[in-house]
Amino acid sequence: MNTSMSSFNSSYWQNRYQKSDTPWDIGAASPPLVVFFEKLLEKDEKNKDLKILIPGGGSSHEAEFLHKKGFKNVFVIDLAASPLEEFSKRCPSFPKEHLIKKDFFKFEGQNLEYFNFFDLIVEQTFFCALDPRLRIDYAKKMNELLKKEGKLIGLLFDFPIKEEQQSPPFGGNINEYREIFEPYFEIKNLKRCYNSIKPRQGTELFIEFVK
Ligand SMILES: C[S@@+](CC[C@H](N)C(=O)[O-])C[C@H]1O[C@@H](n2cnc3c(N)ncnc32)[C@H](O)[C@@H]1O
Repeated sequence: MNTSMSSFNSSYWQNRYQKSDTPWDIGAASPPLVVFFEKLLEKDEKNKDLKILIPGGGSSHEAEFLHKKGFKNVFVIDLAASPLEEFSKRCPSFPKEHLIKKDFFKFEGQNLEYFNFFDLIVEQTFFCALDPRLRIDYAKKMNELLKKEGKLIGLLFDFPIKEEQQSPPFGGNINEYREIFEPYFEIKNLKRCYNSIKPRQGTELFIEFVK
């Protein structure tokens, strides 16, 4: 399936931002991701040079956190213009050319320069926002964009998709995620998150998948 066939296109997302219908936006970087980022800094200051992508970054609280900590090569892609514009106003020192308004599935660069490019890709309520028929494409695309031994890290929801469910967030479970990602990644971590925000406790899995 091609993303343009999905009903969740740029107008869908742009409308939701314009109506402030954004229940996913927790107003700050997600604590489990903050812990991961802080460990990166503790391990090696050179990690500030890592090339990091946040697809479907929306209001981009994680990008803001990383930027303020001194990470220099953080990129955000999103289909909707509004949250990127808002982020740019909130955080004017963040490089404008690293805020990319584009369909993630069509992100590659003019000469495919973003293939095998990123050291780290951060997942935070992007996977669950997609039409579930795009899940294998998501795994393939992540694999394409990451360098060898690059990592896809972040959070996936651990609750079932409801019967007749028509709109995000679309959940899943450990077995399904294994099936989707194992052909493309070594599964280093796929476990219940211990430090989710209160409303998400018991419903988040922390992932660390290595290309
Ligand atoms: C549920 S929101 C999550 C936003 C952000 N990650 C957060 O946690 O606040 C999903 C985001 O993915 C973006 N999005 C959906 N499909 C996309 C696609 N194919 N390419 C790029 N961005 C997409 C939407 O515009 C929206 O900002």
